[in-house]
Amino acid sequence: MMKASIATAVCLVAALCTPAQANDEDVKEYREHVMKSLNAQAAILGQIVSTAVPPDNLQAHLDSIALLASTALAAFEPKVPGGEAKPDVWAQWPDFSKRMREFADKTAAAAKLGHTASPEEALSNMLDVMDCKGCHEVYRNEKKGKKP
Ligand code: HEC
Repeated sequence: MMKASIATAVCLVAALCTPAQANDEDVKEYREHVMKSLNAQAAILGQIVSTAVPPDNLQAHLDSIALLASTALAAFEPKVPGGEAKPDVWAQWPDFSKRMREFADKTAAAAKLGHTASPEEALSNMLDVMDCKGCHEVYRNEKKGKKP
């Protein structure tokens, strides 16, 4: 009885100490989901900029982008090449992580500005903030038929 409960306790602790390992496919899928979520939010900003939809929810979308951007670096931390990620993501990790941090910082600043600025002002430097292409050109091997 005593032995069994000790074994159970040890198992429980071991389970807590070693979280289930995400497999490589999960790792790739996770970072792709983060990127796709960013993509959807970027598309919404585009709709707002083009006045296809009113800017009523602009702050929520700026906040969403900043939040997603803040999760992106961790999504790439496991070194699992594949998907559309070039091996340079990990070979040039100091540069890649610097770019991702800058992206997170800029989107956070844009979300902060949104609280005090007019929609026009808040959106005025979006080309600089949403520099998705700058990173993709170096680190993403875009497969045909996928956007952007
Ligand atoms: C610092 C680098 C970096 C930044 C900034 C960045 N991305 Fe990416 N993105 C990547 C990499 C690397 C991949 C490839 C990931 C993979 O396939 O495993 C990727 C993949 C994608 C994909 C394809 C996901 C799929 O379906 O497989 C989309 C869509 C995307 N990014 C959108 C965006 C948008 C929109 C932004 C800007 C708002 C952005 N990204 C900013 C590096 C970046």
